[in-house]
Amino acid sequence: MINVFQPSLGDEEATAVAEVFACNWLGHGPRAKAFEAEFAAHLGADAEQVLFINSCTAGLFLAAELLELGPGDDVVLPSVSFVAAANAVAATGARPVFSDCDPRTLNPTAAHIEAALTPRTKAVIVLHYGGRPGDIAAIAELCRRRDIRLIEDAACAVASTADGRACGTFGDIAVWSFDAMKILVTGDGGALWVRDPTLAARARTLAYHGLEQPSGFTARVSHRWWELNVQAFGHRVIGNDVTAAVGSVQLRRLPEFLARRRAVVDSYDRLLTGAEGIRTPPPLPRGHTSSYYFYWVQLDEAIRDQVAADLLDRDIYTTFRYPTLHRVPAYRSEGPSLPGADEAAESTLLLPLHQALREEEVRTVADELRKAVANRTSGTP
Ligand SMILES: Cc1ncc(COP(=O)(O)O)c(C=O)c1O
Repeated sequence: MINVFQPSLGDEEATAVAEVFACNWLGHGPRAKAFEAEFAAHLGADAEQVLFINSCTAGLFLAAELLELGPGDDVVLPSVSFVAAANAVAATGARPVFSDCDPRTLNPTAAHIEAALTPRTKAVIVLHYGGRPGDIAAIAELCRRRDIRLIEDAACAVASTADGRACGTFGDIAVWSFDAMKILVTGDGGALWVRDPTLAARARTLAYHGLEQPSGFTARVSHRWWELNVQAFGHRVIGNDVTAAVGSVQLRRLPEFLARRRAVVDSYDRLLTGAEGIRTPPPLPRGHTSSYYFYWVQLDEAIRDQVAADLLDRDIYTTFRYPTLHRVPAYRSEGPSLPGADEAAESTLLLPLHQALREEEVRTVADELRKAVANRTSGTP
């Protein structure tokens, strides 16, 4: 089977984990702190603004809480979003309002976001589809002008930049995912970046039970180190030293991963651009760099699902992200039509893309895709 996503883990990660085992401290400790600082440096951010947490989803829920979203508030997000973003909004009692997106990039433009704003919009959540930076500078400017908070779901944009700036650092809060299928993986894990230092400190408190002080014993904050200074209800969403140790190695290897992913994307572009019935992604705007998490093609809606099934029969796993939320039962709404999102959801197919993909596998995927599209277009089963 040629996987659609796949992590790259090896001896270096195993050694880093063994070192954590040997020192007998598995919880959130020095390695988690080190990984936070390293990831912050990678973003060009201050270490105090970055938290290593146990998933990106937890980060989205924290972000919604930090912005004090609640009943009566609207939050605009593209319908082509991962469901966790809408869940994080809905859990507060606020209302998710879905925007349309560009059918080719699957990212919303500032105009799409603006069209979805309501008088009650308190926040906007945008993702960078498959690591491709969205119209983020313009969306950030729009939010500033309207005094609306901006959350960037940079789950797939671990190394994406727009005009030299890391995706995730344009708004008020951002989240990244290091889950098992991402580029930089820690098993489960994520990062949260908070622009405002006071809010970042609050995030740290909420991420660990609402506890105001550092661990009582190690910090010797009082002679009764077991006492709890809890001023707010909190959660337990911190990362640990085992996963952080893996994260540090993966972050060091990130340039190598990105170079390989870029080479795979270049090969797909070369092999598929201009092929009958297949549309490749539009080129990146000047000044933008992608993490190349997804590579997608767009096919006639009438054959997309059949082509996916044909490829699966040939042991090639393809998929689509993200099924439109305005059509998911929990969020189905009678809102305005979203033609770009609907078109994207019916025509887009993600091809295998990961750093372990060999050149002959890329050629196999491209050949089999071309064959399947030709067969289905001509009506051959
Ligand atoms: C855009 C987006 N946001 C959020 C998430 C959630 O990430 P996690 O699995 O780390 O909770 C994902 C996961 O696939 C994602 O793709």
